Amino acid sequence: SQRTKIKALLTGTPTGTEVTVKGWVRAFRQNRFIALNDGSTNNNIQIVVDFENTDPALLKRITVGAAISVTGVLTQSLGQGQTVEIPASTLEVLGDADPEKYPIQPKKHSLEFLRENAHLRFRTNTFGAIFRVRNTLAFAVHQFLQEKGFVYLHTPIITASDAEGAGETFHVTNFDFDKIPRNDVGEIDYKQDFFGRATNLTVSGQLEGELGAMALSDIYTFGPTFRAENSNTTRHLAEFWMIEPEMAFYDLKDNADLAEDLLKYVIQYALDKNKDDLEFLSQRLADEEKQKPQNERSEMSLLDKLQFCLDNDFERITYTEAIDILRESSHNKKKKFQYLIEGWGADLQSEHERYLVEKHFKKPVVLTDYPKEIKSFYMRQNDDGKTVAAMDILFPGIGEIIGGSQREERLDRLEQRMDELGIPKDELWWYLDTRRFGTCPHAGFGLGFERLVLFVTGMGNIRDVIPFPRFPKNAEF
Ligand code: 4AD
Ligand code: MG
Repeated sequence: SQRTKIKALLTGTPTGTEVTVKGWVRAFRQNRFIALNDGSTNNNIQIVVDFENTDPALLKRITVGAAISVTGVLTQSLGQGQTVEIPASTLEVLGDADPEKYPIQPKKHSLEFLRENAHLRFRTNTFGAIFRVRNTLAFAVHQFLQEKGFVYLHTPIITASDAEGAGETFHVTNFDFDKIPRNDVGEIDYKQDFFGRATNLTVSGQLEGELGAMALSDIYTFGPTFRAENSNTTRHLAEFWMIEPEMAFYDLKDNADLAEDLLKYVIQYALDKNKDDLEFLSQRLADEEKQKPQNERSEMSLLDKLQFCLDNDFERITYTEAIDILRESSHNKKKKFQYLIEGWGADLQSEHERYLVEKHFKKPVVLTDYPKEIKSFYMRQNDDGKTVAAMDILFPGIGEIIGGSQREERLDRLEQRMDELGIPKDELWWYLDTRRFGTCPHAGFGLGFERLVLFVTGMGNIRDVIPFPRFPKNAEF
């Protein structure tokens, strides 16, 4: 008979039906009870083996990690811990897993250990749950934006532009290293790579996205982006996925409204679709919290945190107001935040962001109107001459989850800013053309997808929420 997924078996298949299940053995107890998992849910189905009438050679091959196929009649279980089970009428081992060598055992492994075994960590409850939730969040992003009539625009991975102007790009070359053209002093001539043109992996699809928005009105990108920053933090990857909506005729407030609606929609979607997995991850986090000293423990469970985020408006304040709050806190609490106030104009450190979100407002914060010196050239200049219409969204436990802005649509102001910052106008002639022909107010933002998955799963390290994390010196699998 046809194979049935375990999730379907546990949630609706009537008992008395003969079914075939295929999956990987999670545990085998007393030569009799197999816990079988196929990734459709964290729950295992119990297979009951009639060991007295089974070939001992076959029994020996039922080990943790082995792939098996089982046929039998779905039956009400009398044992504890499960409602149904399958007494195996036929059992076939499809792929053995040598118990001496298979690294994943039916016990709790450390996340560090599993990171080193990232090729097999999918087979644990924790990572099964994380990657199902990640999948749901990706789908929900598309669903939300598609329902609003946004066009999914595929922007290039290989590009000649460095959208953020930060210079943290990975170079792309099709040259044989030994044959790379060099100048007189032996330096590589980067202008000659990519068939004679200097290119890099994209850091953001925004600039290309703006071209789309200036004709299709509302677009979004959703793809991998690359940053060559040598940062080894729990919040940074060298390759991460970003969602970048870009909307014509939007101002900064419209932009923030869309971002807040999007975040709430996808969180709600995951709560509805992956309730089991989020309950599991919530319990996992609660167990982890218990290891911490009392005063460092989080007061809220993961599920409560997600619900709280849905039930409350995000706080919206300007950078200048944030600086005032931080300054205030540094007066009150004496030493604690003294180091942080370098004065108006300085970029906020992650400690400052955490203070605002976790201690002061205790909810997501939309910070707007940053000093122009610490933000990108394309952000719209405000009338005060000092700030730009930027927007960062800060989340509890995460920090910056979204960065965005209203864009500078006035050609003269944009060119003037590029000159001030030394950004070559001739290289971005195509971008400036949008301001020459039918320019209009527009805005957009970038949502770091892994930071979203971090928040929703309650995990602590960004390397645990992407199947194959890329960070300095880690690219094997
Ligand atoms: O703030 P960023 O650099 O903004 C941009 O790239 C804009 N072009 C977006 C836009 O307006 N269309 O990055 C946006 C988000 C950050 O808020 C963060 O969530 C995430 O991308 N991000 C990273 N995530 C993981 N690892 C990194 N190294 C990241 N750098 C940024
Ligand atoms: Mg940013």
